[in-house]
Amino acid sequence: MINKKMQDALNTQINLEQYSAQLYLAMSAHCDGMSFKGFAHWLRIQAGEETAHAMKLIDFLLDRSGKLDLKPIAAPPTEFGGVIQVFEMILAHEKGITEKINALFALARTEKDYASEITLQWYVTEQVEEESNVGQIVDHLRAVGDQGGGIWYLDSRMGKRAAK
Ligand code: FEO
Repeated sequence: MINKKMQDALNTQINLEQYSAQLYLAMSAHCDGMSFKGFAHWLRIQAGEETAHAMKLIDFLLDRSGKLDLKPIAAPPTEFGGVIQVFEMILAHEKGITEKINALFALARTEKDYASEITLQWYVTEQVEEESNVGQIVDHLRAVGDQGGGIWYLDSRMGKRAAK
């Protein structure tokens, strides 16, 4: 059975993953509103991945006979600016999530909770991938700028993202 400290920390992370899903859904709607259908599509898929991250933690918690303690999910902002700002915000958000995952991993070690440590390893790896992917998108966006044909090309490429 999972201990209370680890259980509370995992419940907090579940809420954060759910918030990430809300945030990306709001950003997707924002991009759709600017007719960037490709960016909107990418973000909609990302929102689904965040929900899957939450579900994976929920399943783990339940498998360990832990108690799921769902809390209200904070409302995301409604104004985001241009696409570059959106993706800069995502990168900053993901860096913050990485810190939370690292802290959870460290807690699992301190608590000698090896099962949590192994499960959290997947999240550590996932964060490396997410920061790298979003960092690349930010670089490309900065290179083409907010105006002109380049951003529409990027939009069409983002629209090709397939769900995992
Ligand atoms: Fe669940 Fe984007 O990390």
